[in-house]
Amino acid sequence: MKEENKSAFGMIGLGTMGSNLLLNIVDNGYTCSGYDISPDKVVALNLLNPDAIHGFTDMKEFVMSLNSPKIVMMLVPAGPIVDSVIEELLAVLDKGDIIIDGGNSHFVDTDRRFKYLEEKGFHFIGMGVSGGEEGARKGPSMMPGGDKDAYKVVKPILTKIAAQVNGDPTVAYMGERSAGHFVKMVHNGIEYALMQLISETYEVLKHGLKLSDPEMHEVYKKWNDGRLQSYLLEITRDIFAFKNDGEDHLLLNDIKDEAKAKGTGKWTSQAAMDLNLPIPIIDISVSMRDLSKYKELRTKASEVFPNAKAEKYSDDNEKYIASMEEAFYFAMVSAYAQGMHLLFRANEDYKYNLDLGMIAKIWRGGCIIRSEFLEDTYAAYKKNPELQHLFLDDKIHKSLVKSIPGIRTFVSDVAKHGIAAPAFSVSLGYFDNFRTENMPANLIQAQRDFFGAHTYELKGKNGVFHTDWEADNI
Ligand code: 6PG
Repeated sequence: MKEENKSAFGMIGLGTMGSNLLLNIVDNGYTCSGYDISPDKVVALNLLNPDAIHGFTDMKEFVMSLNSPKIVMMLVPAGPIVDSVIEELLAVLDKGDIIIDGGNSHFVDTDRRFKYLEEKGFHFIGMGVSGGEEGARKGPSMMPGGDKDAYKVVKPILTKIAAQVNGDPTVAYMGERSAGHFVKMVHNGIEYALMQLISETYEVLKHGLKLSDPEMHEVYKKWNDGRLQSYLLEITRDIFAFKNDGEDHLLLNDIKDEAKAKGTGKWTSQAAMDLNLPIPIIDISVSMRDLSKYKELRTKASEVFPNAKAEKYSDDNEKYIASMEEAFYFAMVSAYAQGMHLLFRANEDYKYNLDLGMIAKIWRGGCIIRSEFLEDTYAAYKKNPELQHLFLDDKIHKSLVKSIPGIRTFVSDVAKHGIAAPAFSVSLGYFDNFRTENMPANLIQAQRDFFGAHTYELKGKNGVFHTDWEADNI
């Protein structure tokens, strides 16, 4: 292939995400090469734009079709496949070339790969890509981390293909080593929490307020037109209007109540627990997805513990929905705040050099958790880049305080009526503990020392102490 015909960018993995991202790059004026083991995918993609897309099923030919330094992005399933593709690439790339992992890889794997490739003289970028199919095609939010010099090389391309918010691209260098994949993982944790919260509002609107599907559509539409505006509420609104051709009911009502998960939410909870940093809304959201899979067991339990959902619990739906909006706002803020707090904490331990304001900024568009509230989040960190927790920002503090009556009503009503809304309940419990100067953890210290001589610390005294609790009681 002649030098002038070579591609600026190479994509490995021509599934939905890979081919859409490649087409996005081509739309922005670059020639691209695509590689996949499936000849059908390669041919189909080639046909879309034979002048600007070169397709390959041979790794060496694919790599030879790229300009130097070669930029290769992998969009393949996370896990061992990433390692085997890297090995294949090492055999054909030159030192100084750039490998980008654009999948949802676990950050621990990214750290390992970064070190391995650095030792071998290759540049590695672990990059979170969010926005699903449509985002990849029209403008995703991208979270690259790792080799900063390599990022400078790919920055012009990524900047062009990203979504734009007020003229700013939704891509930025996140930080050292696995920072990009860590940030994307936390994004997904927040995604799990927001989805769980929305599904709990569905439960209450349906069983507590007895709303019909079109009425629920109206509620989500109204909420999405206000300060709760978010991509996830927007698609929820549309789900509540979607019927298959010829059907008289929502497709939603035919869908099984067992939710799948690829694991990024679980990783977020695991990472938070490793750092001793509480993110209970995300934890409960992961757990409730897991519980959804126990259909048979839940069915049995529903027979022995029939619930009391039958009673309608408000005569004034409109008023109640306005108060629910406050509850949702409160819990949503808490979900973002917990995710951001995890990033703050991880930054201390992992020395990523994260800029939380920048993260909020690039999440405002393109990604799944994009929302109006991220404008406030961005503003909060812009005002105070050292902000430890979003609850402590003045503006957020004020609107959170105003929402407290709404969340208290919501949580007490679901408890009274036997409707499950654990993520809402946890958001309130977390808040009430968060704003408690003296938690009852002194009792836990005493208990640990009582049964296990684990020692305790005393107010106003240095050191650790132990008491022989039983002997001292005699
Ligand atoms: C995104 C999404 C995406 C994720 C899916 C499925 O930002 O575009 O987070 O990366 O893979 O949402 O995730 P689960 O299978 O874990 O629900």
